[in-house]
Amino acid sequence: MDEATLWRRHLHAHPEAGFAEHATAAFVAERLEGFGLEVARGVGGTGVVGTLRGQARGEGRAIALRADMDALCQTEAAPDRPWRSTVPGRMHACGHDGHTAALLAAARRLAARPDFSGTVHFLFQPAEEHGQGMQAMLDDGLLERFPFSEAYGFHNMPGLERGTCVAPEGPVMAAEDNFEVTITGRGGHAARPHMVIDPIVAAAAVVLELQQIVARRLDPSEPAVVSVTEVTTNGLRNVIPDWARLSGDCRSFRPEVSAAIEAEMRRIALSVAAAHGAAAEVVYTRSFVPTVNAAAPTAAARRAARAALGTVTESCPRMMTSEDFARLLERVPGCFVFFGNGTESPPLHNAAFDFDDRLLEPIAAWAEALVRDRLGLDGGV
Ligand code: NI
Repeated sequence: MDEATLWRRHLHAHPEAGFAEHATAAFVAERLEGFGLEVARGVGGTGVVGTLRGQARGEGRAIALRADMDALCQTEAAPDRPWRSTVPGRMHACGHDGHTAALLAAARRLAARPDFSGTVHFLFQPAEEHGQGMQAMLDDGLLERFPFSEAYGFHNMPGLERGTCVAPEGPVMAAEDNFEVTITGRGGHAARPHMVIDPIVAAAAVVLELQQIVARRLDPSEPAVVSVTEVTTNGLRNVIPDWARLSGDCRSFRPEVSAAIEAEMRRIALSVAAAHGAAAEVVYTRSFVPTVNAAAPTAAARRAARAALGTVTESCPRMMTSEDFARLLERVPGCFVFFGNGTESPPLHNAAFDFDDRLLEPIAAWAEALVRDRLGLDGGV
């Protein structure tokens, strides 16, 4: 069995959640050192940076390739899978085990033949699922300590033919905002509703009115989502609660749309609660920024896909999911591409999901072709 597949299956069997990727980071660092790279550990918590300098003449530029290392806090449902998770409540359900193994395979390929001009930084980031790992690496001086002028990332995609590469230009994935709306009334006996201010009825009205934001307040040509995902109260079977809290998640592509969602949410929550004699407080936070692929790096990612895989798909529908790599693309131009994980693959974050090992070498070949494109002897195209 190919070594990259062994790495991938080892990582799959030993998943670690965001900012707790201690064994994963040590595994990555040891392999990078084994290939002869300079290795920095503990970048932004559990992040690892491996640096490979080309041996060809000339200064060249520096670029970065990034993989994510964290797993999800869910339990794998694949009892017959020999490399299934050995940790209850932890699982590589998003394929970050495969991303890490593929980038290690790319580092091994390039280290074996470093006849390019310039520097490659291999970034292994923690806590992608939290949307905090890339910011942690940036706050730890990523761009100052390991300067680079372009950055590339990738993710597997279930439902897409195995090995197909999709490299769209422009906005590809959405921003994610989170909210908590707390409605405060006055609790009391379930049998004496006229003596209370029922926060549940007010919260239910707020949930329905929030649907108007996308349906009736935003330009229909602007993609957006407002989802209430949790309702909690301090009530009991026969006690009307004092408060009800709505939590949820919003997606959009432009800051103006995100700002409009927040403003409408505040207006609706406060006025609907007031109509019920209750009070509302809104906490609105921004977790992920939109992922936007720049023109020149996208063209390079496509050339690399054609060179390594023979073909590339240049566009796909915008996705309302979000990606932490976008924080880096805010600072440095780059491109985030997708590789099909097969049409039969369970979806991401599903308890039966598994990264397809047959993607490892194609992704590594793409990454190698990309480095040779950008750091060719003439400094790239
Ligand atoms: Ni993921």
